[in-house]
Amino acid sequence: MDNNRVIIFDTTLRDGEQSPGASMNLEEKVKIALVLEEMGVDVIEAGFPIASNGDFEAVHAVAKAVRNATIAGLARATKGDISRCAEAVKAAPRHRIHTFLSTSPLHMKHKLQMEPEAVLEKVKESVAFARSLVEDVEWSAEDGSRTEHDFLCRCVEAAIDAGARTINIPDTVGYAVPDEYAALIAMLVNRVPNIDKAILSVHCHNDLGLAVANSLAAVGAGARQIECTVNGLGERAGNAAMEEIVMALRTRPDRMPFTTGIKTEHITRASRLVSGITGFVVQPNKAIVGKNAFAHESGIHQDGMLKCAQTYEIMTPESVGLNRSTLVMGKHSGRAAFKSKLKDLGYELGDNAIEDAFVRFKELADRKKDVFDEDIIALVDEAVHRD
Ligand code: KIV
Ligand code: ZN
Repeated sequence: MDNNRVIIFDTTLRDGEQSPGASMNLEEKVKIALVLEEMGVDVIEAGFPIASNGDFEAVHAVAKAVRNATIAGLARATKGDISRCAEAVKAAPRHRIHTFLSTSPLHMKHKLQMEPEAVLEKVKESVAFARSLVEDVEWSAEDGSRTEHDFLCRCVEAAIDAGARTINIPDTVGYAVPDEYAALIAMLVNRVPNIDKAILSVHCHNDLGLAVANSLAAVGAGARQIECTVNGLGERAGNAAMEEIVMALRTRPDRMPFTTGIKTEHITRASRLVSGITGFVVQPNKAIVGKNAFAHESGIHQDGMLKCAQTYEIMTPESVGLNRSTLVMGKHSGRAAFKSKLKDLGYELGDNAIEDAFVRFKELADRKKDVFDEDIIALVDEAVHRD
């Protein structure tokens, strides 16, 4: 693989699902996975198979449905977790076990109640066991960004020796800042003797709003896999948002000469699908996928845009799959046209939410001659929120 190619590992279906209230059923997971595959995601983490029979079945169904992307499942460092995970993912032509163990002093003392040497042994054992079941094993040092450096180097070296192909260094609690996180990745590149046998990966949480910045800084320091989610969904304040990472790399190759395999024109559709299924409304001013991300309200900006789009636009709406304010709906449009419009906009809604949005659409169409895509998006967001 080209040395500047960044692997996109999407964890919307696993870490994203850990957002309180964002659980997805089997059909919904498969639907999202197929869209992620179509948009060119390299690795789809489909769930945590040991967590429940439902999650096992969902990961298994995703593994059966997806043919091109690698399907990963999460497993703690136990034989039970790892075996169950192998069973769930093996139907996919490319599959991966992602196993993890905490390495920070805080986590080892309070969560694991284990001494560092015992943790190190468990890293070796768990990775070797996973590797006896599948070829492609990823190992994560949970709370890696708060781990003591010498110990982290020893764990990473041991995980690679035991057969891990990808080493992930999560900023589990979103505590890192970009220069510090980049230095951590650079330290591993420089100090771990067998590091060139693995891909270094990052997994950043957004507690300080720095998940995307930290991920991009880490790539500059040598990481070549970014773990992220659609709309930045995930535990607490979420994970790094995939759409922001991908568009930042696409828009600023002068500062970040890295590529991904993502077909960015699918971004809007994926964002709306995930929002519709989870009921997590995207904030209007959210970068890339918020409904105002390409709206120009002030007269000065509108005037500038008419003269030359680049005056106030650093990327085109079309590049993320958003049609420029196409007006097609009005008060004569019926339910079927409305449903089909929703589909075009990437929404997959339940009957109640569609009906609610349709009633509001009719009310709006009575007051407003032209109903734009943005109006419909706003209606749906409200309907989803109330559902
Ligand atoms: O945030 C985290 O540390 C995780 C790991 C399990 C990868 O989600
Ligand atoms: Zn996480």
